[in-house]
Amino acid sequence: MARLDVTETFHDITFPGHLHTEESLHYASHFKFQDTDTLIVTYPKSGTTWMQEIVTLVSSSGDPERAQTQPNWARAPWLEQYYCPDVLKASQGRRILTTHLPYQLLAPALTGSKAKVIYVARNPKDVAVSYYHFHKMARFLPEAGTFSEFLSAFLKGTVHYGSWFDHVKGWTSNARNIHHFLYITYEEMSLDLRASVERVSGFLQCPLVEEELTSTMKSCSFNSMSENSMVNYTLVPQEIIDHTKGKFMRKGKIGDWVNTFSEEQRCIFDAVYTSRMADSSLKFVWCVPEQEPPLKSRRDTDPHQTHHILERTFA
Ligand code: A3P
Repeated sequence: MARLDVTETFHDITFPGHLHTEESLHYASHFKFQDTDTLIVTYPKSGTTWMQEIVTLVSSSGDPERAQTQPNWARAPWLEQYYCPDVLKASQGRRILTTHLPYQLLAPALTGSKAKVIYVARNPKDVAVSYYHFHKMARFLPEAGTFSEFLSAFLKGTVHYGSWFDHVKGWTSNARNIHHFLYITYEEMSLDLRASVERVSGFLQCPLVEEELTSTMKSCSFNSMSENSMVNYTLVPQEIIDHTKGKFMRKGKIGDWVNTFSEEQRCIFDAVYTSRMADSSLKFVWCVPEQEPPLKSRRDTDPHQTHHILERTFA
């Protein structure tokens, strides 16, 4: 499957044709969930691979064997990517699934299901920067152009996988319709990995003893994952990901957007954010002020520095 220049459009959202077909998207939107499934949901570049690693390790009681011998797409396949049915046919035990699809496309399939859903969100400014760099490497994504051009498409929601705003609002505002739902942010994972792993293990009802928790944290640290070819995407051939243009495990930092955004871009972003999130009660902790590099003409207040955790579990 090459289709590197193909764009697949499904319900007005575009997807890279290299990994998605009309059939694969239809399969995902009609997926038959099992109550024992765990579904990781993210907008791209929000910490998907990181959560796949955490869930894999938590489910294996901290044993790194599976995480170090099986690529992430084989142990936690994306529902909407064309190879998913084959991977699931070959897999045994409880399934870990991944998706970037917006809520409305999976809502019918999830109705009545007791699958456990983990939603990972990340500061959209860091998402935009990470996504921009990934466009430069991934030959199955369109040309990113300049950062300004990319940011404009990101804010409009015309990039692949659609609008960040619609994605995060769609999933979080419908959390009440999902039987078991855990909301967690990349920032929480970065600031307190131990507490984040404990939240995931509690949610999945996979308790870890201290040794297992330590082993999990070690294997899912940025440094370990950067070295692990099962998650750092170095297994993907050069003609699909150009490894000379950058690394998938790029920086792994929070608040690093300040090193890319101009003051003007930040103002535009904040205005769009305020308007697009006006109908959302979700508040985020995006960064810790002391850890954030100074921005030349930084405003005194940041509207996004409040914290909100959403978690629903109905036994
Ligand atoms: P950066 O490009 O900012 O470095 P996704 O898996 O959703 O595509 O997200 C990729 C982003 O998550 C990249 O961000 C990558 O470095 C970061 N990431 C992956 N594993 C991580 C880890 N263990 N710790 C911190 N960041 C991680």
